[in-house]
Amino acid sequence: MTKITLTRPDDWHLHLRDGVMLKAVLPETTRDFDRALIMPNLVPPVVSAKDAALYKRRILDALPSGTFFEPKMTLYLTESTNADDLSSAYKEGLITALKLYPAGATTNSASGVTNFDAIRPVLEKMAEIGCPLCVHGEVTDPSVDIFDREAVFIERVLDPIRQKTPGLKVVMEHITTKEGVEYVKSVDAGLAATITTHHLFINRNHILAGGIRPHYYCLPVAKRESHRLALREAATGADPRFFLGTDSAPHFDHLKEAACGCAGCFTATNTMPLLAQVFDEEGALDKLEGFTSLNGAAFYGLAPNTGTLVLEKTNQPVKFPEALATPEGQVTIFDPAQPIFWRVFQS
Ligand code: NCD
Ligand code: ZN
Ligand code: ZN
Repeated sequence: MTKITLTRPDDWHLHLRDGVMLKAVLPETTRDFDRALIMPNLVPPVVSAKDAALYKRRILDALPSGTFFEPKMTLYLTESTNADDLSSAYKEGLITALKLYPAGATTNSASGVTNFDAIRPVLEKMAEIGCPLCVHGEVTDPSVDIFDREAVFIERVLDPIRQKTPGLKVVMEHITTKEGVEYVKSVDAGLAATITTHHLFINRNHILAGGIRPHYYCLPVAKRESHRLALREAATGADPRFFLGTDSAPHFDHLKEAACGCAGCFTATNTMPLLAQVFDEEGALDKLEGFTSLNGAAFYGLAPNTGTLVLEKTNQPVKFPEALATPEGQVTIFDPAQPIFWRVFQS
């Protein structure tokens, strides 16, 4: 049997939601992760330092007793974000980044940005104080095909923002295309990208071939196979600018299995075994720790976690739970659609 020991991982893109859902999904992350960057797209969104402080308190209050977990908070960038409020929240260590959602691009993004010129003073303040900008990188122009929206965003929105704001640190969240990978590689400094677990497993056929499978529907939507392979190469390669952000995004099953289903894959429960499988298949188990535990921390200027997580390879495929029960309905756990031979070792 093979065992590997990693520094405890970080998840640099996580949706914990609130209330009953928060309580249900939080232990699924804290089991294997010591820190996560918490997405602010609640309803209403987390837009001020005060909102972030209150949300952080609700997360800490929902932790199972005796569990160590450090939520790294973000603010939802709107056209009325206050540069002084964000600046003091960042300097105090209350927030770690701001999140840019183009208005209407994804789940709960109605308060996002339409006029990118309106956020220029905020972006300049962020560059000045070193606060990173995390972006959901898709245009919302209805004339752009959904499979092209990430590539077009880089050209029309992201590159102009970066050119006009020297020194701004940017993370392209949940990249899904080889254009995303290439853009990160083409830049010298100040740009990184997170990659999700599910985009390393699925391409668009998983969603659409042989029946429509709502539990594989997320945004940005999975692209064709060549893009999945480019993501695998980036994640398992040596470039430290690619790191894990699961984008684990729980929705109740009845809201996904609907005529107009919600976007998001819930991967918190089985992410680490699934990633071990990917890195093993790519002959890159030695790169797994960088991807899950070191590269992101380095980008955010933090020391790695101190504890360890052990993964073991099994002879038989591992059976994972199919769903997480909550008092308000169940949440289907991401199915990788292939056998997995890794699990977290419980000593
Ligand atoms: C996320 C969600 O459900 O909040 N959904 C998703 O498909 N990824 C939002 C997001 O990260 O874009
Ligand atoms: Zn997103
Ligand atoms: Zn997300």
